[in-house]
Amino acid sequence: MARILLIIGGGIAAYKAAELVRHARKAGHEVTPVLTDGAQHFVTPMSLAALAESPVYTSLWDLKDEVEMGHIELSRAADHVLVCPATADLIAKMAAGLATDLATTLLLATDKPVTVAPAMNVKMWQHPATQRNIAQLRADGITVLDPDEGPMACGEFGPGRLPDPEAILAALPLDSATTAPLAGAEGSLTGKHVLVTAGPTHEPIDPVRVIANKSSGKQGFAIAQAAAQAGARVTLIAGPVSLPTPFGVSRIDVTTAQEMHDAVMTSLPADVAVMVAAVADWRPQPSDKKLKKGDGPLDLKFSKNPDILAALGDHPDRPGLLIGFAAETDDVIENAKGKRERKKADWIVANDVSGPPGESVMGGDHNTIHLVSADGVDDWEEATKHAVAQKLIDRISEEFS
Ligand code: CTP
Repeated sequence: MARILLIIGGGIAAYKAAELVRHARKAGHEVTPVLTDGAQHFVTPMSLAALAESPVYTSLWDLKDEVEMGHIELSRAADHVLVCPATADLIAKMAAGLATDLATTLLLATDKPVTVAPAMNVKMWQHPATQRNIAQLRADGITVLDPDEGPMACGEFGPGRLPDPEAILAALPLDSATTAPLAGAEGSLTGKHVLVTAGPTHEPIDPVRVIANKSSGKQGFAIAQAAAQAGARVTLIAGPVSLPTPFGVSRIDVTTAQEMHDAVMTSLPADVAVMVAAVADWRPQPSDKKLKKGDGPLDLKFSKNPDILAALGDHPDRPGLLIGFAAETDDVIENAKGKRERKKADWIVANDVSGPPGESVMGGDHNTIHLVSADGVDDWEEATKHAVAQKLIDRISEEFS
């Protein structure tokens, strides 16, 4: 049984929130509905109150409610906050941190995990402003569910439909709701220092050119975020990526493998190190001046970069749990096993990065993982990088429990 604070936005899908309340009650959960002004045009407080068997809240200025239960208390009395349906407007307000009505004030004041189930017209969903806001919410530690694709109430077709209420309820981490606080709060990794590297490195060739790789940094950033949500102190050492810093994470930006190595070493000691970065193995001797076509043929000489993971494996301050990644296109498991032993890591998180451009793990939002440890190989089903991050943090937490 969990206590859900259900914030209902003003969209046509609001009627499905009523159905969700029914399912949640049947499953034994307590639901406290909060309706925005817009939501009340689609569903009434009366019907929600009857289904939820709970008072329904609509206004920040209702003094009676403030006396009985203040808005801060209301935002924290639940185990989990669900925004369903989340309109483009409500998502934008959340991303901007506005507190203009009861719903947005509760969302800003809460210290509980928040899940957002968006529903809107396909063009509104695909608009860069909405996608920017969604990315911001995810970076802030909020779980945003992907909308379903299909025919919409407005007559158009595409992504933007609210998933079935049962699917939304199933996606809520209600079992772990009480053990998934925001960064800084008590959690399964409270008191632990987690060190994460993420993204590519850039090795300069001359003042305007670099050798790079396709790593987006998404998986590493998601892991840093999930660790912070579990209460850890997180140091994220990031190569050149354009991702927002997750809430509660301290970030050090670096460019080259050598800089990443130095930043990792000065950030020790750590209880856990998760080396997700795609570090360049080699660096050229950079030219001070821009190389000109006429200078060719180009003859670059490379020197070996330090192997950060292997250096940690041999370090006197070796983190208690040392985790590497292995991005492979062939013999995924065998290569990962070899890397685990060579680099003296406890676990290697192996993933297959082959695949056509656009569908590859590198840069994409999904990942399929094989966790290689001394106990063997654990194959995980394909999941979003955020879900993979959460599962990895849960596994790490188990090691410490
Ligand atoms: N890694 C590192 N420093 C390097 C190279 C890799 O810390 N200079 C880490 C990565 O962050 C990852 C793991 O080692 O956690 C494996 O990286 P990968 O590039 O797959 O391994 P390599 O040792 O470079 O092996 P190869 O290029 O032969 O596949």
